[in-house]
Amino acid sequence: MSAEVTFLPSGKTIKVRPGTTLLDAARQAGIAVRTRCDGRAACFMCKMEVKQGSELMPIGDVERRKLAGMDDGMRLSCQARVKGKVQAEIPMDPLRAAVLRQLARQTEEDDKLW
Ligand code: FES
Repeated sequence: MSAEVTFLPSGKTIKVRPGTTLLDAARQAGIAVRTRCDGRAACFMCKMEVKQGSELMPIGDVERRKLAGMDDGMRLSCQARVKGKVQAEIPMDPLRAAVLRQLARQTEEDDKLW
């Protein structure tokens, strides 16, 4: 029996053994996920948005405490373990997101001038 994870936005899908963490699944799929704590639930850099209907093992106490107050769909990929089919969106790198926002603002301002 295997589980299957699809990572968004790339759409890359990989089959893994049930119990594999989303972080390990991403690494097996060749997708780089930035971390500082290397899977110890300390850095929050591995967050992923898990889509509704995804089949994960129940959330553990450590992860639940760490994610208190965050959106329900957010999970720490180093802690979330795959059970069946899962769709997980990897958030854009914060620096890249900031650059894209700045470029969009600049484009809007340029458009106003013309
Ligand atoms: S790898 Fe650091 S919190 Fe998941």
